[in-house]
Amino acid sequence: MADRGVAFVSGGSSGIGYGLAAGLLGDGYAVTISARRTDKLAAAAESLSELGEVHHVAANFAAEDDIECAIDSHHERFGRLDVLINNAGLGIVEPIDQLSAKALDRQLDVNLRGYMLCTSRAMAMLRASSRPHIVNVASIAGIHGQSGLSAYSASKAGILGFTHALREELGADGIKATALCPAFVDTPMVDWIADQIGRDRLIKVSDVVQVVLTLLRLSPQCNMPEVVLEPPAGGLPGWPSDPAQRTAATA
Ligand SMILES: NC(=O)c1ccc[n+]([C@@H]2O[C@H](COP(=O)([O-])OP(=O)(O)OC[C@H]3O[C@@H](n4cnc5c(N)ncnc54)[C@H](OP(=O)(O)O)[C@@H]3O)[C@@H](O)[C@H]2O)c1
Repeated sequence: MADRGVAFVSGGSSGIGYGLAAGLLGDGYAVTISARRTDKLAAAAESLSELGEVHHVAANFAAEDDIECAIDSHHERFGRLDVLINNAGLGIVEPIDQLSAKALDRQLDVNLRGYMLCTSRAMAMLRASSRPHIVNVASIAGIHGQSGLSAYSASKAGILGFTHALREELGADGIKATALCPAFVDTPMVDWIADQIGRDRLIKVSDVVQVVLTLLRLSPQCNMPEVVLEPPAGGLPGWPSDPAQRTAATA
């Protein structure tokens, strides 16, 4: 068993989640990663296993049963949980005039409902931990709603409200909760717009990892409730104001 603790990372097969899993393993945690696509997830687990003890379990975080199975599988493998990283998410660009119920439901289901159900089902293990921490990957779009991203922004604002409620409800029991609010991070999610923005202007996954590892090393007397990661000039550089230029969706 890893000496620093055990973590669960949803969306751990790619981008920020993969980076966080690697960072946690490097810091001595054992880690479960979860995502939908089994091939990509297994390949990620294989590659991460060079860094430490990794378990992987396929799950769709829009589905309650899948979330419960993933948490059960983690429990069977490790029997404990110290750090829950709710990270699996997607963003779909749609002007409000064309908002589809399907795209709205997908974003709310995965980005918000999935975080809430996963946290709920992980609570018994977190309550048994000596240093429990729930890290919710939100977005700067949850603070400053973004044009063309109303459903995504709303889902991320919901995560901020959820995280605040967790602190009110669980803080006195020593369970920490933190919302991360990054601007554009260089991951596959932003591949479609990275050249337009300029890849060299994107925040690096390693920046997010550094923040989380720092969070987890704070004393029990200290928490960072929200962490905003921005480029030096702030905001989302290069986000097109013209809706016609925002043609792509990420999923
Ligand atoms: N990149 C950015 O600029 C940025 C900025 C702020 C916040 N964020 C947030 O950071 C988180 C990670 O994003 P990323 O940039 O790392 O994106 P990414 O590289 O596309 O990774 C997304 C991860 O989530 C998984 N996922 C997506 N839908 C899922 C579902 N229904 N059930 C289970 N897993 C699912 C994906 O695997 P499968 O597709 O195989 O399921 C993948 O592992 C998201 O919550 C995103 O909103 C990203």
